[in-house]
Amino acid sequence: MGSHHITLLAALMVLGSHLPLRTSASTTPCAFPAIFNFGDSNSDTGGLSAAFGAVPPPNGETFFGAPAGRYCDGRLIIDFIAQDLGLPFLDAYLDSVGTNFSHGANFATAGSTIRRQNTTLFQTGYSPFSLDVQSWQFTQFKSRSQLASKEGGIFKDLLPPLEYFSRALYTLDVGQNDLTAGYVSNMTTEEVKATIPDILTKFTDVIQAVYGLGGRFFWIHNTGPFGCLPYVLDRYPVRAPEVDHVGCGAPFNEVARLFNLKLKETVMQLRKRFPRSVFTYVDIYTVKYTLISQARTHGFEHPLVACCGHGGKYNYDIHWGCGAKAVVNHTKVLISKSCEDPSKRICWDGYHYTEAANRWVYDQIVKGAFSDPPIPVTMACRKQSN
Ligand SMILES: *[C@@H]1O[C@H](CO)[C@@H](O)[C@H](O)[C@H]1NC(C)=O
Ligand SMILES: *[C@@H]1O[C@H](CO)[C@@H](O)[C@H](O)[C@H]1NC(C)=O
Ligand SMILES: *[C@@H]1O[C@H](CO)[C@@H](O)[C@H](O)[C@H]1NC(C)=O
Ligand SMILES: *[C@@H]1O[C@H](CO)[C@@H](O)[C@H](O)[C@H]1NC(C)=O
Repeated sequence: MGSHHITLLAALMVLGSHLPLRTSASTTPCAFPAIFNFGDSNSDTGGLSAAFGAVPPPNGETFFGAPAGRYCDGRLIIDFIAQDLGLPFLDAYLDSVGTNFSHGANFATAGSTIRRQNTTLFQTGYSPFSLDVQSWQFTQFKSRSQLASKEGGIFKDLLPPLEYFSRALYTLDVGQNDLTAGYVSNMTTEEVKATIPDILTKFTDVIQAVYGLGGRFFWIHNTGPFGCLPYVLDRYPVRAPEVDHVGCGAPFNEVARLFNLKLKETVMQLRKRFPRSVFTYVDIYTVKYTLISQARTHGFEHPLVACCGHGGKYNYDIHWGCGAKAVVNHTKVLISKSCEDPSKRICWDGYHYTEAANRWVYDQIVKGAFSDPPIPVTMACRKQSN
């Protein structure tokens, strides 16, 4: 990381001596007035919860003090982004009660994929709100919010003005579920790899649609090392030589890295296709894998064990998700509960990261150390001068 900074600084100094005006312009923060987010549970702030049943306690216990639509004890990376941009937390588009979209909206839902799945949520757990559906919702959000605002009254205070759409930051964190869905449908690792080009074609289609609606500044997270997550390790136990030195499933992480390589190529093509846009590609994989593989160094413990869960090697049981209750002697008791200190844990519930882990990851990426180009989130509207 340090070397990244030094290289960037050196590059800026060289540029600065030739192009003083350009350099000073590119140091002014973007002042994004809104965020529009698309994705899966990594950035769902209440979508699936609103549509398919509320996220139960102890979710939300660390920061919100009650469930807050997030599969987490507290804040997600998207929440830290919103806070640092000086914007309120994003409300879910699907949430119809008490929402305020004046500074953006969140179309992400837990279990979302890029490609439409041919199964229902009740069969395999994947959300019906795939990325293309999220982009239809965004299309409606843009047109209908303007109609409603025109009526004035309270709506003007709850919806973004038209000019925000071209100045907003568009964030995306999606793809992991497309890869695990391949395994759920019994594909081999080679077969899952073969689906990546089609997944990324669909991803490009959505970026194109958002661009067509005025989106210009895109902040794209790559996918994490899902081979280190309890739900994957529990369902697909791995044995040597397929286990890495940390205990993660190497073939799954290899698929994630291939997806990321192709995603990065896709982003490079998008830059050429939409030269007026700014695309920032963020290497979340490396940050999460570093945290998991060096947990102790960074003040965390049991990196592969869920904090909130029920039993087994990973404190994870698919039938007893975080917050599950059972009737014992005619009384409902919480049997899948939180660990003692979530602030020392990385994995919250077997699928998702704790607030502490999300914060750690956010702290690594916020200044651009893992981004291409290496610019902070507050500057993600600036083209790298070259
Ligand atoms: C769903 O089925 C269609 C038609 O057979 C197919 O083209 C598509 O690839 C399938 N989607 C997934 C995610 O498997
Ligand atoms: C919506 O949120 C914005 C920003 O936090 C706030 O200024 C505005 O008053 C809110 N609107 C209503 C109707 O509460
Ligand atoms: C995958 O294989 C398992 C075990 O053989 C089977 O129970 C399941 O129905 C299969 N799933 C699909 C989608 O074919
Ligand atoms: C349920 O009640 C019986 C009888 O009072 C008791 O022996 C048993 O330990 C109780 N089970 C649990 C799980 O508390």
